[in-house]
Amino acid sequence: MGLSQRLRVAVVISGRGSNLTALHTAADAQGYEIVGVVSNQAHAAGLLYARSQALPQTVVDHQSYATRTLFDEALARALDRYEPDIIALAGFLRVLGTAFVHRYAGRLINIHPSLLPAFPGLNTHARALQAGATEHGATVHFVTDALDGGPIIEQARLRVYPNETPEQLAARVLVLEHALYPQVLGRLARGQIAIPL
Ligand code: GAR
Repeated sequence: MGLSQRLRVAVVISGRGSNLTALHTAADAQGYEIVGVVSNQAHAAGLLYARSQALPQTVVDHQSYATRTLFDEALARALDRYEPDIIALAGFLRVLGTAFVHRYAGRLINIHPSLLPAFPGLNTHARALQAGATEHGATVHFVTDALDGGPIIEQARLRVYPNETPEQLAARVLVLEHALYPQVLGRLARGQIAIPL
């Protein structure tokens, strides 16, 4: 595939941006391009990385919008300017409304730090340990109306160690995330993933 045909990926973040970094680092090798980064937090550390790499970026601060619908519309406008083929949520910690999700159906993906359908929502690592899970991991999935419930694309798993802390488990899962997410984008870029929606 020629350079001009690379899959155009916009990344949406709220914070640290380690998955953004992993996605960007692997982009050339996997045949996609990060065309823009959008954050709902002006001070997200991920924006510093984006700046250091001269990636186009936009802040859409959710606190500036009276309703979720207005925020979602502003987010969509910011994303559409980058003309993305795929929108990759990477540590984006807001829930998106139905209209937004439908608008990008089949083009909107997310990475979640658990083996969905186990442990949707927050604090997944502590909850997995509390539940006595012997396996844990990360999931990349299409985003639908169901919170953390859309069709699963791919998962990466590990064995939970006895007595590990949520922080230790989170760090090990994060290593898996950084390999998994670029791989999925690469498969999407090569047309190897059927769009289920
Ligand atoms: C990642 O572990 C990601 O899976 C998780 O937030 C972290 C963001 O880290 N996402 C969610 O919990 C979504 N519900 P990062 O900003 O360093 O990529």
